[in-house]
Amino acid sequence: MSIFKTKAITRLVEETQGKQGLKKALSSLDLTLLGIGAIIGTGIFVLTGVAAANYSGPALVISFILSGLACAFAALCYAEFAAMVPVAGSAYTYGYAALGEFWAWVIGWDLILEYGVGVATVAIGWSGYAVNLLNNIGIHLPKALTLAPMDGGIVNLPAILIIGLIALLLISGVKETSRLNGLIVGIKVAVVLLFIVLAVGHVKPVNWHPFMPFGFKGVISGAAVIFFAYIGFDAVSTAAEETRNPQKDMPRGILYSLLICTVLYIVVSAILTGVVKFSIFSKPEAASAPVAYALQQIGIHWGAALVSVGAICGITSVLLVMMYGQTRVLFAMSRDGLLPKVFGKVSEKHKTPATSTILVAIVTAVTAGFLPINIVSELTNIGTLVAFVIVCAAVIVLRYKRPDLERPFKTPFVPVVPVLGILACGTLIAGLQPATLIRFVVWFAIGMVVYFAYGYRHSALQLETKKSA
Ligand code: ALA
Repeated sequence: MSIFKTKAITRLVEETQGKQGLKKALSSLDLTLLGIGAIIGTGIFVLTGVAAANYSGPALVISFILSGLACAFAALCYAEFAAMVPVAGSAYTYGYAALGEFWAWVIGWDLILEYGVGVATVAIGWSGYAVNLLNNIGIHLPKALTLAPMDGGIVNLPAILIIGLIALLLISGVKETSRLNGLIVGIKVAVVLLFIVLAVGHVKPVNWHPFMPFGFKGVISGAAVIFFAYIGFDAVSTAAEETRNPQKDMPRGILYSLLICTVLYIVVSAILTGVVKFSIFSKPEAASAPVAYALQQIGIHWGAALVSVGAICGITSVLLVMMYGQTRVLFAMSRDGLLPKVFGKVSEKHKTPATSTILVAIVTAVTAGFLPINIVSELTNIGTLVAFVIVCAAVIVLRYKRPDLERPFKTPFVPVVPVLGILACGTLIAGLQPATLIRFVVWFAIGMVVYFAYGYRHSALQLETKKSA
């Protein structure tokens, strides 16, 4: 039995087509909106402050460009897979097809980390804006109940509450429809544009000096932090089965949504660091809602309140997508026998993976309630960056192993683009805090134990091979 046995691509497509037969209704515009809906959230609304104050300074804009470049290379690789294997499941499925079970496990285990701590990060961001908005209307919650112990509080209660609420919605079968998503994307983009319009006239170039207070190394670390803001374009690929013309529309949806967000991010970060001094974002009240805080500093309180409302709506939808993603990755891995059956159990009443959603909610709520945003966001980033590296490598491997497969979208300049993707993501990984790397290695080691103690023995693919031998 080999741990590198792959799932046949044609079979993957057949398996999913036969089983679900989802309506094929989404166009490339829907996919682009889906991508923007999953992308714009805590990253731009909150982590910009963390990155500017601690790592990038006004060179935050360079950090956004560097991180955006790394994502662009990875996105081109994602697009090749999304068009070739148009089945739900994203990177985990691609790994199974190209590199075999072991690497699929590695990606899946990675994605569990990415979504798990990602949900916590997004919930902490949501809490920051909710608290800011309440402050704005005169309701002051005690710090002890709105911040994690390492940030000077006891527990981040709003973050726990929103996770509980989203879990209830998911259990009852609420799924973001593409119309609702369109509305939320509209609100999100509107408040980002509102910030740009209100703040651009208040930029003082003196705030951009010194440009790189923490040197170029700081700019790279900043890029590694705000990488979080780009996470989500891979969510587009999970809708492959519902896309009218996945071969054409998938790559378009992925690349357009990434491009639009990159442009918005670059403009916002340049203005944000031009309006106020970057060092102001080290204050806790500024760090938890920097975009609204900047508007308050220039005296536009109504604008700050509107931005907070928009950010709260926008971040809620990211939370919905991420938590949904978490339960579906667990579901796919459980169906393949790599994780216990409980994660694949569907509630009779609601037809949703209720038990798994509750487990996910408990773990992520505890994480969000007691850990600070810088720790959980960096862990999300490393999980995602490693998955990106594997997807880039998988493109090269599959070009050599299966040159015959039909590739409706081809990553340009292979192997140059995937190699650049691997190098760029590797550089960002190196820019993360050493403690993050250690935490990731520990997570990975636990994953190895789980795989060899459970997944390897229960894997559907392995059992099948045994039977036919
Ligand atoms: N990119 C998403 C966010 O910023 C995950 O919230």
